[in-house]
Amino acid sequence: MSTSSPSFDPSATAPSGCPVAPGAVRLSGASYQQTPTELYRSLRREHGAVAPVLLDGDVPAWLVLGYAELSYVTTHDELFARDSRRWNRWETIPPDWPLLPFVGYQPSVLFTEGDEHRRRAGVITEALEGVDQFELARDCRRIAERLIADFAGSGRTELMSSYVHALPMRAVVQICGMPVSGSDTQQLVDDLRISLDAGEGDDPVAAYGRVGDRLRQLVKDKRAVPGPDVTSRMVTHGAGLTDEEIVQDLISVIAAAQQPTANWICNTLRLLLTDERFAVNVSGGRLSVGEALNEVLWLDTPTQNFIGRWAVRDTQLGGRHIRAGDCLVLGIAAANTDPEIWPESYVGAENSAHLSFSGGEHRCPYPAPLLADVMARTAVETLLEQLPDLMLAVEPAELTWRPSIWMRGLSALPVRFSPMAQ
Ligand code: HEM
Repeated sequence: MSTSSPSFDPSATAPSGCPVAPGAVRLSGASYQQTPTELYRSLRREHGAVAPVLLDGDVPAWLVLGYAELSYVTTHDELFARDSRRWNRWETIPPDWPLLPFVGYQPSVLFTEGDEHRRRAGVITEALEGVDQFELARDCRRIAERLIADFAGSGRTELMSSYVHALPMRAVVQICGMPVSGSDTQQLVDDLRISLDAGEGDDPVAAYGRVGDRLRQLVKDKRAVPGPDVTSRMVTHGAGLTDEEIVQDLISVIAAAQQPTANWICNTLRLLLTDERFAVNVSGGRLSVGEALNEVLWLDTPTQNFIGRWAVRDTQLGGRHIRAGDCLVLGIAAANTDPEIWPESYVGAENSAHLSFSGGEHRCPYPAPLLADVMARTAVETLLEQLPDLMLAVEPAELTWRPSIWMRGLSALPVRFSPMAQ
């Protein structure tokens, strides 16, 4: 399930006379990663708050760019629902369509609706509520220190692979009840990485199969001997979820946690290391780290676009006629920087009224955003405390964003620092 996908090229409109979506903007093509705020603003100027777009393979959809419109979509489940089987385009979708892993129906919490969604999401919420945030911070610190120890002596590293992706993955696997070290856990961590973010030569389908098998075993073990962890709380919850439901929802929790939290860490480190407003006192400045974390959620939010919702019936949105079964992409980054809420073109606030965790029934479930905050804050603070003279090993302009319109994060984050004696 690679999140890499072609980038956004608004100049690439559909061929004139395109019968399905005249004037639609291709969400694929050349490089549009460097200045997304300007990009979304120009899309909005041209198309309004809801733009016709073409997904991979020229499949039509709507991109919801407006803050008010996105809030409306996410809080009106009776009009815009989550079960992708509603899609009126399925007969045109080939079996090897690259977005199928995200859009194809799976029997997990992500695609359920109504009472069934409340049942499944309720179990996740209560299981996550049992996580002690102080313990989580302590565990994240230990994980961070171990990862840093592996590269501290060398004076340089590429943080995405050595730190940023590994930390939230290990932390989430641990809160789900697996020991943080051990070959079994390492195999699961590797397989999760491959299934979520396959690289050259990886086999994501085989890896995803092994993840399912390992989590099935975990659920079985926790049924036999429950412990103080998320999986055990799901297993013993009064809602009586089946093993298979729990496995599906555990995969959703781990996947939903890892990529966005890792990219939140990445984008915050980038801001701290490149923006002079933070540069003076990052290593000591708790407040600065908090401000950077929040600014990233407004300006460089990890889940920049998300598929999505499907219209339950014909309706109007942002002046567009939406047909029953149409697909809507949640334009989270665009909504956060909507000129309607930032008329002076300045973006960024100390409050958290951004839509980075979405909204409504399917929003990132409480208390997941708080746990993500603990992980991200601990990851950033521990790194800056341990390596106080950390700096970029390349010019800021040489950093490249991943060519994905879904997740916003860097391809690589090379840094250098004074080597630590081992
Ligand atoms: C501990 C870390 C996290 C966990 C356990 C977690 C868990 C989840 C789960 C289970 C869902 C599915 C909710 C549902 O369909 O009912 C979800 C959705 C989502 N999460 Fe998170 N998440 C985490 C971190 C993050 C972060 C850091 C971000 C972005 C800054 C984020 C953004 C989202 C978004 C945009 C959705 C989609 C909501 C929608 O469909 O409207 N999550 N998350």
